Amino acid sequence: MAKELASRKHDLLLIARSGDTLSKNCIELQQNFGVKADFLVTDLSVPNAALKIKEWLVEKNYAIDILINNAGFGSWGNLRDISRDELNQMMQLNMISLADICKVLLEDLEKNKKAYILNVASTASYQAVPTLATYAATKGFVVLFSRGLRWELKDGPVSVSCVSPGATATGFIDRANLGFIKEKSEKFTMPPQTVAKISINGMFSGKAEIVPGLMNWITVKAVGILPKSLPELIARNLYKVDK
Ligand SMILES: NC(=O)c1ccc[n+]([C@@H]2O[C@H](COP(=O)([O-])OP(=O)(O)OC[C@H]3O[C@@H](n4cnc5c(N)ncnc54)[C@H](OP(=O)(O)O)[C@@H]3O)[C@@H](O)[C@H]2O)c1
Repeated sequence: MAKELASRKHDLLLIARSGDTLSKNCIELQQNFGVKADFLVTDLSVPNAALKIKEWLVEKNYAIDILINNAGFGSWGNLRDISRDELNQMMQLNMISLADICKVLLEDLEKNKKAYILNVASTASYQAVPTLATYAATKGFVVLFSRGLRWELKDGPVSVSCVSPGATATGFIDRANLGFIKEKSEKFTMPPQTVAKISINGMFSGKAEIVPGLMNWITVKAVGILPKSLPELIARNLYKVDK
């Protein structure tokens, strides 16, 4: 998404934990797209991460007109087997920090004539997913939070969108210990560049919800119509390790 925005001549502020990757990405963005780019190395899964971002913006005198809450992760397994640390980190990053960042940076966004928030959810937002129960619930939060905030901000300059990607070829699957479904999901997996382009287009055209890819869109629509237990059963079988 940073590259997609850079290709449209937007300057970028990147935030993640890996300083080396961020530094390399900023140099690439500057060289390849002629935009300005800077980065903050910080862990967004700790309380008050939003205040750290705000302090950085003030210190550097940076103004923002787009906020993309993309950082997030999933963790496959039964609740019984996932560590409490992993679980709490996931809920903090995917939900609490996301909402807090919107809250803390809203005043900065509202200084513009037009501004955008894009929150990254998942197709898993729309149904319960056994073995990804907490992850799916955190992403359900992102959709509802984004929709509610969108209405709250309707008469102001900030447009709020939420994107729900399906399987996308990033580091997500390995981080979530979902390597075993790579082969099964390969034909439905989208390139991140395509997902990013659709997401950014959707954000700028002010869409409330964006579901990239026809298959993902059909799946989300079908989940809304079918009895809840049916997609839950399909997910249970999909995410079960083959014996
Ligand atoms: N890929 C998929 O199939 C898929 C499907 C649906 C939704 N999503 C969602 O898409 C979003 C992006 O994930 P991705 O697919 O690009 O996965 P990814 O390749 O694992 O990238 C995750 C990004 O978030 C950053 N991040 C993770 N934990 C962080 C933390 N505690 N503090 C700050 N930054 C952190 C990572 O950088 P560092 O590790 O350097 O911090 C990395 O830049 C997530 O919200 C994910 O839930 C992905």
